[in-house]
Amino acid sequence: MNPAIARLKPYAFTQLGAQEASLRARGVRLLKFGVGDPEDETPAFIREALIAAVTPAGRYPTAAGLPELRGAIAAWISRRYAVTADPEVHILPANGSKEALYNLAPLLLDGPSAGTTPQAVAIPELAYQVYGDSALLHHAEAIPLPLDGDWLPDLNAITPELGARLKLLWLNFPNNPTGKVAPLGYYRDALDLADRYNFYVASDEAYSELWYDRPPPGLLQAAAPRGYHRAVVFNTLSKRSNMTAYRSGFIAGDPELIRVMKNVRPRMGVATPEFIQRAAVAAWEDETHVQAQRARYAERRVLFLDLFRRKGVQVEASEGAFYLWVRVPETAPGRDAQRFAERLIEHGLVVLPGSFFGPRGREYVRLAFVPPLDVCREAVAILDRVL
Ligand SMILES: Cc1ncc(COP(=O)(O)O)c(C=O)c1O
Repeated sequence: MNPAIARLKPYAFTQLGAQEASLRARGVRLLKFGVGDPEDETPAFIREALIAAVTPAGRYPTAAGLPELRGAIAAWISRRYAVTADPEVHILPANGSKEALYNLAPLLLDGPSAGTTPQAVAIPELAYQVYGDSALLHHAEAIPLPLDGDWLPDLNAITPELGARLKLLWLNFPNNPTGKVAPLGYYRDALDLADRYNFYVASDEAYSELWYDRPPPGLLQAAAPRGYHRAVVFNTLSKRSNMTAYRSGFIAGDPELIRVMKNVRPRMGVATPEFIQRAAVAAWEDETHVQAQRARYAERRVLFLDLFRRKGVQVEASEGAFYLWVRVPETAPGRDAQRFAERLIEHGLVVLPGSFFGPRGREYVRLAFVPPLDVCREAVAILDRVL
């Protein structure tokens, strides 16, 4: 067996699931604000596009995907970021973004060679688990980048020593778990470093469309004037269009990397079924449903923000995505996120302790406001009592 398997951290959601199951067995009704899996419906026109595309017989789909899908993604990128991406050169579909995030490392890393310092992958100190798991299982060293006082990974931590063995830097804005959004200049700084040290910048933009003030910038904007050199972006329909069940996203950026992916990804078995690709075309071509979804999240978010403000509880970062990054109140024992989350779950409210994402989260909980408004109101009532 791969020795790295023994070093994988427990999978947060498995732990959470076990705790929930034992409470449910005791008859506690749980309001689930832990997992970031949208609960609202996939818009009807997208479901209809899928059904209309199911054919009596089918063939293997290709990893390169339908030209119509690559075209719809390129058009979306151009509308969203005012940059030009060539569907044949800069874009590939992905079977949901998570597999693509996981499958990037083997394309950029050398194998382990005895006696040498392992290659490094830099990962924000608090991060979605897949970046670190993939680095570890591909024999790289995952280097946690410390977050600065404003919740941005500190690029100054990329020293010449680290730079010399760094192959990949992961960024994720709007961030899971903090909801932090990065300014365009931050992406430019990351790309400058990538040029200096010869690593790739991978930007997971799964939450790019869940914003409350103005649309956040993305890596593609910073990378377009450089021909997307050393930049790769991952996005998905999962959150913007409530399509986690469909598994459909895209990879966009560096033409050389996309060319390599066109060669390697067919070997990985990651092609998306064509009826899902047809539904994806419909989803990328429409923004009305995304606006409506943003409005639903905004309404829920405000309920919680009002409550926390009234209670004097600090909410930090939390500019985008459907997460609130809530500081455990001073009055809670040890300001300990794990204990605080356990107390909330005893009252029927499930949130994730920030410590699931790394030690820096030990005084925070992540609240995912994905349940409908009436359930959010119940959750607010619980918090009103407990805090
Ligand atoms: C930061 C982040 N990236 C990627 C994903 C995966 O999304 P997909 O459904 O496209 O695999 C998630 C899912 O929760 C996420 O939180």
